[in-house]
Amino acid sequence: MSQVPQHKVIFDTDPGVDDAMALYFALAHPAIELVGITTTFGNVTVEQAASNALYLTAITEREIPVTLGVAAPRHMPPHAPPDFIHGGDGLGNLASRVPTSKQLDPRSSAQFIVDMARAQPGEITLVAVGPLGNLALALELEPRLPQLLREVIVMGGTITEPGNVSPVAEANIWNEPHAADQVFTAGWKLTMVGLDVTHQVRVTLSMVARIAQHHQHAATDALLHAVEFYARFYTGLYAHIAQEPGCFAHDVLAFIYLVQPELFVLESGVMRVATDGLAVGQTMLNRRDFIAYPQAGWGQGQAVTQVCMQVDAAKSVQLFNDTLLSDWLAA
Ligand code: BDR
Ligand code: CA
Repeated sequence: MSQVPQHKVIFDTDPGVDDAMALYFALAHPAIELVGITTTFGNVTVEQAASNALYLTAITEREIPVTLGVAAPRHMPPHAPPDFIHGGDGLGNLASRVPTSKQLDPRSSAQFIVDMARAQPGEITLVAVGPLGNLALALELEPRLPQLLREVIVMGGTITEPGNVSPVAEANIWNEPHAADQVFTAGWKLTMVGLDVTHQVRVTLSMVARIAQHHQHAATDALLHAVEFYARFYTGLYAHIAQEPGCFAHDVLAFIYLVQPELFVLESGVMRVATDGLAVGQTMLNRRDFIAYPQAGWGQGQAVTQVCMQVDAAKSVQLFNDTLLSDWLAA
């Protein structure tokens, strides 16, 4: 797969097992150049997320700046990190870590996003797979950010698929719903890759085991350990996953959309997020824009989000597998 990178990407993330899967897909895919990793709280504390991002990149011997981002939502108390899903360390409780000396970039995640976007206007894509506080803060630091970034892809939310933290809410959006509403109404080229598609795509444990067996490398060993832990959660919850242990491909699907958007069916419309009450974190897509709703918040001329509603699951899984089996760790 020799290809010149076509996508310069800042990866905004809370690693997190599926975040680690996504990170390694991005490092392995020849069309993607990761220019920075901005971390946030979510699956773990922000300090742990940053430490995991540093570790996951250091063991692949890649020099990519990593920044520390927001530590909590600004408008509500934080939810406890889901250690029963990702492990207390976010990577399935790794028994040990190879020593590394990689240091954080001193800037905040929001400042890093702004600096990079100003330095390379129109060139950078932001792929966000955690709560959206860093993006909201970056928008406040630089209101021209929607014009400076090439596009934004968010893993989060759901339209018709039931939620994973309430009947209507997905975890990333629920963790920081005010920030998510700011992001969905900001006016950039924005695509949402939510549970409507991520729940259609499963990565099996045996696939990740074959990838680790193939590479015999600390990076893919760590990934396999993490996915084993993560798969226990999904296997215990969903009968169809129990038949062949594995997990949903949440965060990696944002990168699969980036490199092969033709695998997805999209719908677009104005998106808002419920910021309190029983439906907090719900992503609401206006699918009837010909109705002049009397309720405030749904006026004409608002920013539109593209939403992934269907995906070619078999081709997505094949792409994940082929990309991770390539010689990306040998480079
Ligand atoms: C999302 O929530 C997190 O737990 C995962 O890393 C993913 O980003 C799925 O709802
Ligand atoms: Ca995540």
